[in-house]
Amino acid sequence: MNRYMGVFFFAFLLIWACKKEEPTEEVHTPTPYTLETPASLPPANIPDDNPLTVEGIALGKMLFFDPVLSGDSTQSCGSCHNQADAFTDNGKTFSEGIQGLEGTRNSMPLYNLMYHKRFFWDGRAESLREQALLPIQDELEMDESLDKVVTKLEAQDEYKDAFKAAFGSEEVTTENISLALEQFMNTLVSGDSKFDRWQSGDPNTDLTESEMRGFDLFFGEANPTVVGNQGADCFHCHGGPLFSNNQFMNNGLDEESAFTDMGLWDATGLETDKAKFKVPSLRNIAVTAPYMHDGRFATLEEVLDHYNEGIKISSTLDANMQAIVDFGIDLDEQDKQDLINFLHTLTDEVYLNNSDYHSPFE
Ligand code: HEC
Ligand code: HEC
Repeated sequence: MNRYMGVFFFAFLLIWACKKEEPTEEVHTPTPYTLETPASLPPANIPDDNPLTVEGIALGKMLFFDPVLSGDSTQSCGSCHNQADAFTDNGKTFSEGIQGLEGTRNSMPLYNLMYHKRFFWDGRAESLREQALLPIQDELEMDESLDKVVTKLEAQDEYKDAFKAAFGSEEVTTENISLALEQFMNTLVSGDSKFDRWQSGDPNTDLTESEMRGFDLFFGEANPTVVGNQGADCFHCHGGPLFSNNQFMNNGLDEESAFTDMGLWDATGLETDKAKFKVPSLRNIAVTAPYMHDGRFATLEEVLDHYNEGIKISSTLDANMQAIVDFGIDLDEQDKQDLINFLHTLTDEVYLNNSDYHSPFE
């Protein structure tokens, strides 16, 4: 090494050393959040690429309850998803968007979404993050462009801070909006109803005789040749800890000629998917009237009348519905009352009142 090279080398070292000492961007570390799920539910199922963080959930909650996400800043996600109604729309059959226009489907309850594979009655969204951006842009709902939402949020210091805390940058992106909303919605958990307490053997919780009869009917087979107690055959589709099999099915609401909403067919285009809808969970069903994708039934009694004597035959009718038609479930007034009483044990007051889900703006 000659003298000049040595000098250069020394100078390079010096520059390199100085560079290293320049203040670097502070390393961003949001606080990991562990979701506690009740023993009645499967283990938490959170996507690896969007782990829950305290800051991400807090931002998601702000976004969920902030009307600034809508075109005229009057409507938030929370307007049509009210906690006391298991995040459905205040007993309305159809929701009204900001233009006063009505949609064509009944608002859906929001809980245990982390276990679902597809979203909406027709399953057209395959992830919660994908789902979350759709109502914002839907002209029958919040009717706002994502670009404008980003601009409106970037104008508020509170949001710049919240995005920085959650994602390491003040820059508001639609991707981060959807990820934060996904995080908040993944924390909505319901698994602490009277039924859950009874099932876990809680000595302070007993089902009444009528609730117990309803339970037996719910989980009993319609087919009399199957061993076991005879029943109303609800569990095939609404069974398991989620009270839903997570599938899309036709439960016989309409005859083929009267199909107006094509359900899953809208998402897949398959003939065999016509008039199939998401099998809804029956947790908290007592507080989410009216019922079905179009809110056609006002009460649980009307729902039971449908299964008892109103099932319509069509090419996509589910085989278990056909079995109910073939064997008959012959519910009398007492059976109906017992089933309804059982369904009422699925109401989870802990979830309905959980202050973690309250609007941060109240
Ligand atoms: C104008 C009322 C309205 C607003 C505002 C609204 N929703 Fe909904 N939401 C509905 C209706 C109605 C459905 C069912 C629509 C369908 O199936 O086509 C639904 C469905 C959903 C579902 C699907 C649940 C499931 O089990 O598949 C999720 C999740 C959801 N909304 C979250 C949100 C979020 C997040 C926002 C805010 C960005 C929002 N909603 C704003 C009315 C609304
Ligand atoms: C073959 C599967 C299947 C069986 C069996 C079944 N259901 Fe359903 N159930 C569905 C589907 C699918 C829907 C949604 C249909 C729609 O909205 O178009 C539904 C909707 C409901 C709803 C309305 C939920 C809401 O959020 O609006 C209630 C309540 C209900 N079922 C109760 C029962 C009861 C009680 C039984 C037993 C008597 C039963 N179901 C049997 C598939 C089934």
